[in-house]
Amino acid sequence: MAGHLRPEEGQPLFQVLPDAEALARRAAELFVMAASSSISVRGFFSVAFSGGTTPGRLFELLALDEYSAGVQWGKVHVFFVDERCVPPGHELSNYRLASDALLSKVKAIVHRIHGELGPEEAAGKYAGELEGALGNSPVLDMVFLGMGQDGHTASLFTGSEALSEKVKLAVPVIDREPPRVSLSLPVINAARTIVFHVTGENKAAAVRQALGAQQFKGGPAPPAALVTRRALWLLDEAAAEGLPKQ
Ligand code: 6PG
Repeated sequence: MAGHLRPEEGQPLFQVLPDAEALARRAAELFVMAASSSISVRGFFSVAFSGGTTPGRLFELLALDEYSAGVQWGKVHVFFVDERCVPPGHELSNYRLASDALLSKVKAIVHRIHGELGPEEAAGKYAGELEGALGNSPVLDMVFLGMGQDGHTASLFTGSEALSEKVKLAVPVIDREPPRVSLSLPVINAARTIVFHVTGENKAAAVRQALGAQQFKGGPAPPAALVTRRALWLLDEAAAEGLPKQ
Protein backbone atom coordinates (compact mmCIF):
# COMPACT_ATOMS: atom_id res chain seq x y z
CA MET A 1 0.00 0.00 0.00
CA ALA A 2 1.51 3.33 -0.99
CA GLY A 3 0.20 6.22 0.98
CA HIS A 4 0.95 9.88 1.57
CA LEU A 5 0.13 12.47 4.16
CA ARG A 6 -0.92 15.95 3.00
CA PRO A 7 1.11 15.78 -0.26
CA GLU A 8 0.51 19.47 -0.96
CA GLU A 9 2.74 20.30 2.01
CA GLY A 10 5.48 18.02 0.75
CA GLN A 11 4.85 15.70 3.65
CA PRO A 12 6.59 12.34 3.69
CA LEU A 13 5.45 9.55 1.43
CA PHE A 14 5.15 6.08 2.88
CA GLN A 15 4.95 2.63 1.45
CA VAL A 16 3.87 -0.29 3.61
CA LEU A 17 5.45 -3.67 2.90
CA PRO A 18 4.22 -6.97 4.35
CA ASP A 19 7.37 -7.68 6.38
CA ALA A 20 11.04 -6.81 6.92
CA GLU A 21 12.21 -9.02 4.06
CA ALA A 22 9.90 -7.37 1.55
CA LEU A 23 10.99 -3.99 2.88
CA ALA A 24 14.69 -4.82 2.45
CA ARG A 25 14.03 -6.02 -1.11
CA ARG A 26 12.20 -2.77 -1.91
CA ALA A 27 15.09 -0.77 -0.48
CA ALA A 28 17.54 -2.77 -2.59
CA GLU A 29 15.46 -2.11 -5.72
CA LEU A 30 15.43 1.63 -4.96
CA PHE A 31 19.21 1.57 -4.46
CA VAL A 32 19.83 -0.14 -7.83
CA MET A 33 17.48 2.25 -9.65
CA ALA A 34 18.98 5.34 -8.00
CA ALA A 35 22.54 4.16 -8.69
CA SER A 36 21.77 3.56 -12.35
CA SER A 37 20.07 6.93 -12.73
CA SER A 38 22.76 8.91 -10.87
CA ILE A 39 25.61 7.25 -12.74
CA SER A 40 23.97 7.89 -16.10
CA VAL A 41 23.38 11.56 -15.25
CA ARG A 42 26.42 12.46 -13.11
CA GLY A 43 28.86 9.66 -13.73
CA PHE A 44 28.80 8.47 -10.12
CA PHE A 45 26.40 7.62 -7.26
CA SER A 46 26.80 8.79 -3.69
CA VAL A 47 24.89 6.98 -0.97
CA ALA A 48 24.96 7.13 2.83
CA PHE A 49 23.96 4.10 4.86
CA SER A 50 22.78 4.05 8.45
CA GLY A 51 23.84 1.59 11.08
CA GLY A 52 21.76 -0.33 13.57
CA THR A 53 20.12 -3.62 12.66
CA THR A 54 17.64 -2.71 9.90
CA PRO A 55 20.20 -2.17 7.11
CA GLY A 56 21.74 -5.63 7.63
CA ARG A 57 19.41 -7.45 5.25
CA LEU A 58 19.66 -4.63 2.70
CA PHE A 59 23.45 -5.05 2.67
CA GLU A 60 23.14 -8.83 2.23
CA LEU A 61 20.74 -8.38 -0.69
CA LEU A 62 22.94 -5.78 -2.42
CA ALA A 63 25.81 -8.27 -2.31
CA LEU A 64 23.72 -10.86 -4.20
CA ASP A 65 24.15 -11.01 -7.99
CA GLU A 66 20.39 -10.50 -8.24
CA TYR A 67 20.99 -6.87 -7.26
CA SER A 68 24.77 -6.39 -7.36
CA ALA A 69 25.13 -7.28 -11.04
CA GLY A 70 23.06 -4.20 -11.90
CA VAL A 71 25.38 -1.80 -10.09
CA GLN A 72 28.61 -0.23 -11.42
CA TRP A 73 30.23 -0.43 -7.98
CA GLY A 74 33.42 1.34 -9.14
CA LYS A 75 31.29 4.47 -9.56
CA VAL A 76 29.54 4.18 -6.21
CA HIS A 77 30.73 6.37 -3.31
CA VAL A 78 29.58 4.82 -0.04
CA PHE A 79 29.29 7.14 2.94
CA PHE A 80 27.87 6.55 6.41
CA VAL A 81 25.04 8.48 8.04
CA ASP A 82 26.74 8.04 11.38
CA GLU A 83 29.28 5.97 13.23
CA ARG A 84 30.15 5.03 16.73
CA CYS A 85 33.58 6.12 17.98
CA VAL A 86 35.00 2.61 18.08
CA PRO A 87 37.60 0.85 15.92
CA PRO A 88 36.33 -0.35 12.51
CA GLY A 89 36.41 -3.99 13.59
CA HIS A 90 34.40 -3.39 16.76
CA GLU A 91 31.02 -5.11 17.07
CA LEU A 92 29.33 -1.71 17.46
CA SER A 93 30.91 -0.29 14.30
CA ASN A 94 28.41 0.65 11.57
CA TYR A 95 31.25 0.28 9.09
CA ARG A 96 31.88 -3.30 10.23
CA LEU A 97 28.19 -4.18 9.71
CA ALA A 98 28.32 -2.87 6.13
CA SER A 99 31.78 -4.24 5.40
CA ASP A 100 31.04 -7.79 6.55
CA ALA A 101 27.77 -8.03 4.58
CA LEU A 102 28.52 -5.92 1.50
CA LEU A 103 31.60 -3.73 1.19
CA SER A 104 34.03 -6.63 1.44
CA LYS A 105 32.24 -8.20 -1.54
CA VAL A 106 31.99 -5.28 -3.96
CA LYS A 107 34.52 -2.72 -5.14
CA ALA A 108 32.83 0.50 -4.12
CA ILE A 109 34.62 3.71 -3.10
CA VAL A 110 34.18 3.72 0.67
CA HIS A 111 34.35 6.88 2.79
CA ARG A 112 34.57 5.54 6.33
CA ILE A 113 34.01 7.68 9.40
CA HIS A 114 37.22 7.19 11.41
CA GLY A 115 35.41 6.97 14.72
CA GLU A 116 38.47 5.56 16.44
CA LEU A 117 39.99 9.07 16.29
CA GLY A 118 37.35 10.34 18.72
CA PRO A 119 34.22 12.38 17.95
CA GLU A 120 35.68 15.80 17.25
CA GLU A 121 38.65 14.72 15.11
CA ALA A 122 36.58 12.08 13.30
CA ALA A 123 33.81 14.60 12.52
CA GLY A 124 36.33 17.06 11.10
CA LYS A 125 38.05 14.40 9.02
CA TYR A 126 34.72 13.13 7.71
CA ALA A 127 33.59 16.63 6.76
CA GLY A 128 36.76 16.91 4.72
CA GLU A 129 36.03 13.55 3.09
CA LEU A 130 32.54 14.74 2.15
CA GLU A 131 33.90 18.01 0.74
CA GLY A 132 36.65 16.23 -1.13
CA ALA A 133 34.19 13.93 -2.85
CA LEU A 134 31.10 16.15 -3.22
CA GLY A 135 32.24 19.76 -2.77
CA ASN A 136 31.65 22.10 0.16
CA SER A 137 27.86 21.91 -0.17
CA PRO A 138 27.58 18.16 -0.55
CA VAL A 139 24.42 16.75 -2.10
CA LEU A 140 24.24 13.03 -1.55
CA ASP A 141 22.23 11.16 -4.16
CA MET A 142 20.63 8.84 -1.61
CA VAL A 143 20.48 8.52 2.17
CA PHE A 144 19.05 5.54 4.01
CA LEU A 145 17.83 6.44 7.49
CA GLY A 146 16.64 4.29 10.33
CA MET A 147 14.71 5.52 13.33
CA GLY A 148 14.87 4.58 16.97
CA GLN A 149 11.84 4.01 19.21
CA ASP A 150 12.57 7.46 20.63
CA GLY A 151 12.33 9.06 17.21
CA HIS A 152 16.08 9.59 16.79
CA THR A 153 17.62 9.20 13.39
CA ALA A 154 21.26 9.09 12.37
CA SER A 155 22.91 9.91 15.70
CA LEU A 156 20.66 12.91 16.22
CA PHE A 157 18.81 12.54 19.48
CA THR A 158 16.12 14.73 21.04
CA GLY A 159 17.69 17.48 23.12
CA SER A 160 21.12 17.07 21.55
CA GLU A 161 22.83 20.25 20.40
CA ALA A 162 23.93 18.35 17.30
CA LEU A 163 20.32 18.79 16.14
CA SER A 164 20.76 22.54 15.82
CA GLU A 165 23.97 22.43 13.76
CA LYS A 166 23.36 24.44 10.63
CA VAL A 167 26.86 24.80 9.17
CA LYS A 168 29.05 21.79 9.87
CA LEU A 169 28.68 18.79 7.56
CA ALA A 170 29.38 16.26 10.29
CA VAL A 171 28.88 16.65 14.02
CA PRO A 172 30.43 15.02 17.07
CA VAL A 173 27.87 13.45 19.43
CA ILE A 174 29.51 13.27 22.84
CA ASP A 175 26.48 12.68 25.09
CA ARG A 176 26.15 9.02 24.10
CA GLU A 177 28.28 6.03 25.04
CA PRO A 178 30.17 5.31 22.91
CA PRO A 179 30.34 8.82 21.47
CA ARG A 180 29.39 9.10 17.83
CA VAL A 181 29.76 11.12 14.66
CA SER A 182 26.68 11.99 12.60
CA LEU A 183 25.84 13.73 9.39
CA SER A 184 24.27 17.05 10.27
CA LEU A 185 20.61 17.72 9.44
CA PRO A 186 21.46 20.17 6.63
CA VAL A 187 23.46 17.47 4.81
CA ILE A 188 20.69 14.91 5.30
CA ASN A 189 18.02 17.36 4.12
CA ALA A 190 20.10 18.29 1.08
CA ALA A 191 20.09 14.74 -0.25
CA ARG A 192 18.32 14.07 -3.52
CA THR A 193 16.52 11.03 -2.14
CA ILE A 194 15.93 10.07 1.48
CA VAL A 195 14.57 6.65 2.32
CA PHE A 196 13.61 5.74 5.86
CA HIS A 197 13.57 2.02 6.53
CA VAL A 198 11.65 1.22 9.70
CA THR A 199 10.29 -2.11 10.89
CA GLY A 200 8.64 -3.50 13.97
CA GLU A 201 5.69 -2.71 16.21
CA ASN A 202 8.01 -1.08 18.72
CA LYS A 203 8.54 1.74 16.21
CA ALA A 204 4.84 2.31 15.35
CA ALA A 205 4.26 5.12 17.87
CA ALA A 206 7.42 6.94 16.81
CA VAL A 207 6.44 6.54 13.15
CA ARG A 208 3.02 8.08 13.79
CA GLN A 209 4.67 10.98 15.60
CA ALA A 210 7.32 11.50 12.98
CA LEU A 211 4.81 11.36 10.12
CA GLY A 212 2.68 13.96 11.84
CA ALA A 213 -0.20 11.58 12.30
CA GLN A 214 0.13 11.91 16.04
CA GLN A 215 0.74 15.31 17.68
CA PHE A 216 4.06 15.88 19.38
CA LYS A 217 2.12 16.13 22.70
CA GLY A 218 3.57 19.60 23.31
CA GLY A 219 7.10 18.22 23.30
CA PRO A 220 9.85 18.84 20.74
CA ALA A 221 9.46 17.24 17.34
CA PRO A 222 11.27 13.92 17.19
CA PRO A 223 14.55 14.24 15.24
CA ALA A 224 13.17 12.06 12.43
CA ALA A 225 10.45 14.70 11.91
CA LEU A 226 13.19 17.30 11.35
CA VAL A 227 14.15 15.50 8.16
CA THR A 228 12.01 17.89 6.18
CA ARG A 229 13.16 16.84 2.76
CA ARG A 230 10.34 14.88 1.09
CA ALA A 231 11.35 11.41 2.29
CA LEU A 232 10.01 8.00 1.36
CA TRP A 233 9.24 5.91 4.42
CA LEU A 234 9.45 2.18 3.85
CA LEU A 235 7.50 0.59 6.66
CA ASP A 236 6.51 -2.94 7.41
CA GLU A 237 2.92 -3.51 8.53
CA ALA A 238 3.92 -3.61 12.17
CA ALA A 239 5.66 -0.23 12.06
CA ALA A 240 2.79 1.28 10.05
CA GLU A 241 0.20 0.32 12.66
CA GLY A 242 -2.22 3.17 13.32
CA LEU A 243 -1.30 5.32 10.35
CA PRO A 244 -4.24 6.88 8.51
CA LYS A 245 -5.48 4.52 5.81
CA GLN A 246 -5.27 6.01 2.31
C1 6PG B 1 22.89 3.92 14.56
C2 6PG B 1 21.89 4.24 13.48
C3 6PG B 1 20.61 4.65 14.11
C4 6PG B 1 19.62 3.60 13.68
C5 6PG B 1 18.40 3.62 14.55
C6 6PG B 1 17.50 2.43 14.21
O1 6PG B 1 24.07 4.14 14.38
O2 6PG B 1 22.43 3.34 15.56
O3 6PG B 1 22.32 5.04 12.50
O4 6PG B 1 20.12 5.91 13.77
O5 6PG B 1 19.26 3.85 12.33
O6 6PG B 1 18.81 3.53 15.90
O7 6PG B 1 18.23 1.26 14.49
P1 6PG B 1 17.65 -0.19 14.14
O8 6PG B 1 17.74 -0.31 12.65
O9 6PG B 1 18.56 -1.14 14.85
O10 6PG B 1 16.23 -0.24 14.65
